[in-house]
Amino acid sequence: MRFQFATIVGMALSGLAAGQTLNIPTRVGSIVSLSAPSVISGSKDMGNREYDRGRACDTDADTGSASAVFILENGATLSNVIIGKNQLEGVHCKGSCTLRNVWFRDVCEDAISALGNGNVLIEGGGAQEAKDKVVQHNGRGTVTIRGFTVVNAGKLYRGCGDCTNNGGPRNVVIQNVRAKGVSELVGINSNFGDTANVSGSCGSSVKKVCQEYKGVQKGQGSSSKVSTTANCKGQTTLPSC
Ligand SMILES: *[C@@H]1O[C@H](CO)[C@@H](O)[C@H](O)[C@H]1NC(C)=O
Repeated sequence: MRFQFATIVGMALSGLAAGQTLNIPTRVGSIVSLSAPSVISGSKDMGNREYDRGRACDTDADTGSASAVFILENGATLSNVIIGKNQLEGVHCKGSCTLRNVWFRDVCEDAISALGNGNVLIEGGGAQEAKDKVVQHNGRGTVTIRGFTVVNAGKLYRGCGDCTNNGGPRNVVIQNVRAKGVSELVGINSNFGDTANVSGSCGSSVKKVCQEYKGVQKGQGSSSKVSTTANCKGQTTLPSC
C-alpha cells in the first residue's frame, strides 16, 4: 500500500513537472558544436541530433547570421533536430522555408528569424526560456506556426518593430499551439497592414494573445503598442490545454 501511494504521488509530481517544461525528444548521440553555421538547402532530416555553437548565451543583442546554428536557404526544409543551449541565434531562414519538429532547449536572442521574403511554415517542435522572442519576422509573407509548443517566452511571434525598410504586410497564422507563461503570443504592426489569426490553441499564463503595434523604420525610435484589435483575428483568450 505504501509503495502504491508513493507511486501515485510520484506520478502526480512528474505530471506537474511535465507541465512546466517542454517535452523535447531524447537526443540521438552527443551534442555537435559547430564552428560555423550549417547552411541547409533542400531537405535535411537531422534524426533528432542536437547542435549548438559551443558559445554560451551571453548577450541579448542581435549578432546576425554569423551566430546562427542553421541558415536555411530559400526553399529549404529542416526537420527533427534539437538546438542546444550554447548558441545565440538558432535558425535563420533567408526566404521561404519549413521547420518541422525543431526543438529549442534554451532560446537566446531569438529561436527562429525569418529574414527574407516568402512563406515560412513551423510545424511541430517547440521552444522554451525565450526572454524575448521565439520567432522574429523581418521579411514579408505569411508565417504559419502549427502544432508548436512554447513555454516561458516574451513573445511567440513578433513582426519586426524597427527594421531597415520596415513595412508589410506580414501575416501570421497560429494553429493548435500550446503555450505556457507567455507575455504576448503574437505582436503585429497594424499600421503596415499585418494580420494575425490564432485558432485551435490552448495554454495557461498567456497575458495577451494578440497585441497590435505601430511599427517604425530603423533609427526612428521603437515601436509602440496601440489599442486597436481589428487585425487580430481568431482567439482572443486561450482555454487551458
Ligand atoms: C482563421 O483561421 C480559422 C481556422 O483555420 C478559419 O476558420 C478562419 O476563417 C480564419 N479567419 C480569418 C479572418 O481568416
